[in-house]
Amino acid sequence: MHKVVREGLERIERELSEYHEAFESRKVLVAGGAGFIGTWVCRTLLRLGAEVVCVDNFASSLPENVEELLSQQGFTLLKKDVSKPLAAEEVGRVNIVLHLASRAAPPEFDSFPVETLLANTVGTANLLELSRACDATFLFASSSEVYGDPPPNYVPTPEIYTGNVNPVGPRSCYEEAKRCGEAFAKAYEKQYGLDVRIVRIFNTYGPYMRAEGIYGRVVSRFITQALANQPITIYGDGSQSRSFTYVTDLVNGLLRATCCDKARGEVINIGSEREIKIIELAHLIKKLTRSSSEFKFEQPPPDDPRRRCPDISKAKKLLNWTPKVGLEEGLTYTIEWFRDKMS
Ligand SMILES: NC(=O)c1ccc[n+]([C@@H]2O[C@H](COP(=O)([O-])OP(=O)(O)OC[C@H]3O[C@@H](n4cnc5c(N)ncnc54)[C@H](O)[C@@H]3O)[C@@H](O)[C@H]2O)c1
Repeated sequence: MHKVVREGLERIERELSEYHEAFESRKVLVAGGAGFIGTWVCRTLLRLGAEVVCVDNFASSLPENVEELLSQQGFTLLKKDVSKPLAAEEVGRVNIVLHLASRAAPPEFDSFPVETLLANTVGTANLLELSRACDATFLFASSSEVYGDPPPNYVPTPEIYTGNVNPVGPRSCYEEAKRCGEAFAKAYEKQYGLDVRIVRIFNTYGPYMRAEGIYGRVVSRFITQALANQPITIYGDGSQSRSFTYVTDLVNGLLRATCCDKARGEVINIGSEREIKIIELAHLIKKLTRSSSEFKFEQPPPDDPRRRCPDISKAKKLLNWTPKVGLEEGLTYTIEWFRDKMS
């Protein structure tokens, strides 16, 4: 296991030290467990003594993310599409269901809009049905994309902002699907009294992200381009902003939201309060990688939100959570991981 990953897992374990009992000897289904965030979640849960059932169809992930887990006691992999029904008999009685199964990179939405919609709508309903059959706690990994393009007075964006989303826009298969997934979770809570929790994740980065082709995200793309001294491609003029969370902080927040009593029925933003312009991120990555790359400006994708920054007061209050890893620190870890992977 890479040093950066091992140290990251140790950090998450320390931060969750008061919550070990919530996961020890519990059976947790992680849908999308072979993906970037999912592999960190599965690894953390195994360290906390949980039994993990990873359900994934490898639509956007690489088998190597879970290969080393296959030999670990307490880990099972079920290759399956969540948009097909999942019976309790297939996985056994689970205590917790974490739904992370969705394509998450904008270029994937262009190529696979139907699959993206299905995973977050029908897939959510299927996993809620399984949770109901098992009387399990259900957590939905929603997204900051449910907010669409918020006006300046709603940045930082609080959970009460209801969104500005184009239902037929180029990103709607993701944005509207996440909104529908949230509605499904609340409907199961209302009609069946299910224990549901919704986390709206803001841009997250770290080891295990993919960088190539349609799977690349801005951080992984910039890092791999910078390490190869190739042009760093910036969409638009780079004045659009995002806020970036290192994956260990995200996993800490996600698992707190899964087990804290106060999070039951709640919708909670998890993200970093530090907003940064994309051009500044490019300069920072260029500096940290000591790269000779130049910047190449390309046409921005349609409906690209101008700003993304969460109001995280609710996470601070309900989960006693704040992000701990600064951007320079997290980027340094991620660069180290990519440098070794590319060498
Ligand atoms: N990474 C981020 O910045 C971010 C931000 C907001 C929300 N999220 C959400 O977090 C979750 C995980 O994202 P990620 O960044 O790890 O993406 P990822 O693409 O690396 O992981 C998603 C995983 O889900 C699997 N999957 C996709 N469709 C599936 C299906 N129909 N059935 C079974 N498995 C399926 C993929 O194969 C992959 O392993 C997603 O739901 C995503 O929408 C991520």
